[in-house]
Amino acid sequence: MAAPMADDSSAKSPTASGLDRRALKYSASIAYDRRLYRDDIAGSIAHARMLGKQAIISTEDADSIVRGLEDIRREIESDTFPWREELEDVHLNIEVRLREKIGDAAARLHTARSRNDQVATDMRLFVMQACEDTVAGTRALQSALLQLAEANRDVVVPGYTHLQRAQPVLLAHHLLAYFEMLDRDVRRFTVARENADELPLGSGALAGVPYDIDRDFVAKELGFSRVSRNSIDAVSDRDFVIDFHAAAATIMMHLSRLCEDIIVWSSAEFGFLKLPPQFATGSSIMPQKRNPDIAELARGRTGRVYGNLIAILTTLKGLPLAYNRDLQEDKEPLFDTVDTLLPTLEVLAAMIPALQIDAAKSEEAAAGSYTLATDVADYLVRKGMPFRDAHQAVTKLVASAQDSGKGLHELTLADFRACSPLFEDDILSLDVRSSIAARDVPGGTAPNRVEAALAEARKRLEGQS
Ligand code: ARG
Repeated sequence: MAAPMADDSSAKSPTASGLDRRALKYSASIAYDRRLYRDDIAGSIAHARMLGKQAIISTEDADSIVRGLEDIRREIESDTFPWREELEDVHLNIEVRLREKIGDAAARLHTARSRNDQVATDMRLFVMQACEDTVAGTRALQSALLQLAEANRDVVVPGYTHLQRAQPVLLAHHLLAYFEMLDRDVRRFTVARENADELPLGSGALAGVPYDIDRDFVAKELGFSRVSRNSIDAVSDRDFVIDFHAAAATIMMHLSRLCEDIIVWSSAEFGFLKLPPQFATGSSIMPQKRNPDIAELARGRTGRVYGNLIAILTTLKGLPLAYNRDLQEDKEPLFDTVDTLLPTLEVLAAMIPALQIDAAKSEEAAAGSYTLATDVADYLVRKGMPFRDAHQAVTKLVASAQDSGKGLHELTLADFRACSPLFEDDILSLDVRSSIAARDVPGGTAPNRVEAALAEARKRLEGQS
């Protein structure tokens, strides 16, 4: 066989690589999978303790393995570990180093184990941690959104549909929309963590192992709440990685939309907010510029995260059971997504509370462009007119106001009455504030509803941290 390292069963010892150097270089994953060292060592320690407890190896050997692995962890963390490219991956690097440190006992660690169930275990531990980190980062961003909303409780902005001014809303209401999206994202990552929370060790290469092992013990040691039910499934699927990517793609989509709002709103055309200088970049040629690069990069990197989701889906789709080396390709996209998502959450959480809101500008925009037309129609409905008729009447009113270059607030009672005799002088007190206050329904933008929503959101956030 030309490739002894590609199949654990034919590997005589971890170092016995008869591989062509180009094949070795092509197949090595050590450049990136060293990142799994903490999970790999934790898995090995739990496995060694179990082997000792079950008298599969002596307790002396088990103890010396555990001590050796802890020592190796210290070496890695103090950057003194001698990583060896020629050893293919993190598992072999650690095992070979262990042998150097504690001698022959090290060779007993791989009893009742294969790199197939080992790497699946590492990946599950890594994904569980990544989910926890993402939830924490998302909570911090929710808190930042809430902070901005609370600090600008009275600010009015135009609500948009089709990017056309539609109806006035409170800025806090708009921001709380993102809070809700992020809440669902937290749920997705919580589920992704639950899906990863299953111990593969004990599955061996694919069929289970011929030793009296204690899988529940290992699961408990590692913080898994259950053991996998099928050894073939345990070593061959990475759907829990997909779940992480899918949740990541969705949250990045939400963040990208938030960033799009920030980008558009900070333009001169909108002017509702100014980027704090510490989060805006200048131009090398135009001295007046304050560019929203952070938001643009977050929007741009969303594409990368989508790409990583597609990459893992595509890697898995044609694989026969059980383990195939293609599965090694699960790592880089995962790391890349983690390294994109967490810093995105972090930088946005820092930037958002510092956004400088121009309340006068946004309220002016909210009052312009006939955004109260719906309220005028609703007025007629309250006077008994069917909504469709009211809609038609107000369409005409708006058209004639537009013709004479007037805003709705500039119309006289006579102008209104020319449209319908149902109008009385209370129509003249309609403004953005009364329009907003009228939307007093659960989930609506009325100030009392938004106040309650802010308080509820704050409570939800604090209840979870
Ligand atoms: N580096 C490998 C991976 O990430 C480890 C498992 C190797 N197993 C094997 N049978 N070659 O998938």
